[in-house]
Amino acid sequence: MKGKLHFLLVFLVYSLVVFTNVKRESFDKDFIDFEYCRLRSVNRTYKYVSGRVKLLKTPLNHIKVNMALYQRLNGYKPFLYNFTLDACKFLKNQKSNPIASYFYGFLTEYSNMNHSCPFDHDIVVDKLSTAFINHRVTKMLPFPEGDYMIKTHWKFPEIEKALTKFYFSLS
Ligand SMILES: *[C@@H]1O[C@H](CO)[C@@H](O)[C@H](O)[C@H]1NC(C)=O
Ligand SMILES: *[C@@H]1O[C@H](CO)[C@@H](O)[C@H](O)[C@H]1NC(C)=O
Ligand SMILES: *[C@@H]1O[C@H](CO)[C@@H](O)[C@H](O)[C@H]1NC(C)=O
Repeated sequence: MKGKLHFLLVFLVYSLVVFTNVKRESFDKDFIDFEYCRLRSVNRTYKYVSGRVKLLKTPLNHIKVNMALYQRLNGYKPFLYNFTLDACKFLKNQKSNPIASYFYGFLTEYSNMNHSCPFDHDIVVDKLSTAFINHRVTKMLPFPEGDYMIKTHWKFPEIEKALTKFYFSLS
């Protein structure tokens, strides 16, 4: 992982990441519900995602996250990253997963998620934008121009209760 991250950091500093879509689904609306979740497009390059996730059975101390990157070829195919982490353990030691730590880094800039477990309130994401991603992530993208998706399965802790998909293009 360390060698990989180092490789990532030296690549494609000038590319542009733009969100193209966001989708979410709850499989148990008494447990987790998306009050809203939308992509706003200010102009061609400035787009942001805002959302509110209602957590209805708090406090939550056991959260498992599986995150995988897909690249669009003929349909979306798994690409490069696929990991599962115990969110509460990760929050105690973010160095344990540098890639997740990058993603968590932008999320905390634009949300009220900047704390460790338990989670006992709604999660609000406010204007999560690619402008910020362009500053922070393009430096770690070792892959070609094209369309990508990050699919995240949210488990509490073994049963999948929600799914989020962020779509973006790299040019
Ligand atoms: C897009 O909108 C942002 C925010 O208003 C602005 O800073 C940026 O210059 C705009 N970009 C273009 C290409 O118009
Ligand atoms: C990710 O890895 C898990 C466990 O190995 C596997 O079940 C899952 O199908 C993989 N997902 C993708 C998108 O490759
Ligand atoms: C979280 O908040 C604390 C205190 O406000 C701050 O010191 C820390 O840098 C923040 N962490 C992240 C990842 O934003």
